[in-house]
Amino acid sequence: MLKFKKSPKYISPSILSANFADLQTDIKNVETAGADMLHIDVMDGHFVPNITIGPVVLNSIKNVTKLPLDTHLMITDPDKYAEAFIKAGSQYLTFHIEACKSPGALIEKIKNLGAKPGLSLRPGTHIKDIIPFLPEIDLVLVMTVEPGFGGQSFMADQVNKIKELDALRKTHGFKFLISVDGGINAETAKVCVEAGADILVAGSYVFGNNPASAIKNLRML
Ligand code: DX5
Ligand code: ZN
Repeated sequence: MLKFKKSPKYISPSILSANFADLQTDIKNVETAGADMLHIDVMDGHFVPNITIGPVVLNSIKNVTKLPLDTHLMITDPDKYAEAFIKAGSQYLTFHIEACKSPGALIEKIKNLGAKPGLSLRPGTHIKDIIPFLPEIDLVLVMTVEPGFGGQSFMADQVNKIKELDALRKTHGFKFLISVDGGINAETAKVCVEAGADILVAGSYVFGNNPASAIKNLRML
């Protein structure tokens, strides 16, 4: 039995590891199992080596679920596509600080379009790069793998970033949620939650196992 100091607020299954030929069934399964949101990984074959889905598919997903769509843009020039993803149904729109020339302007645009802006950090990117934007955003996505593929191993050296972000928001009263993405399972989730993570993104752990048991384990019941 796992024991935790506190529970994660949100579980966000990443559909990257779902069956794309029967996505609706997989989405319903995690919805029934108590997922809080759905993590949608958007990759362009340029910012990362993989290619996944665009706004058309995201909109079809929106039409078959009530779960908020937690969209993770791993694309070059996210400002070019932000509006299309928000119109398609993204509630959270997270982009990589490294991929954007004017993050402040894009954060403002996302808010004006009615969505919640998030910033993501690759393992090699420092927190100092996003500090100026922390008062303005709703979510920080800490990558605990190199973005691009599901099923990779958790990079434990990234946990310090979660701790640092948690300390920063406590000191300054920032409201952003801390999400962690990559190699999350019941064991790594424990470390992240204890460090201050609010959202656990998990792909292969949820869809590669029985989703209901996996979600239950992540909830630390
Ligand atoms: C990787 C994606 C992740 C991925 C996580 O670039 O951002 O969301 O789906 O997959 P797992 O949980 O299998 O590491
Ligand atoms: Zn992701």
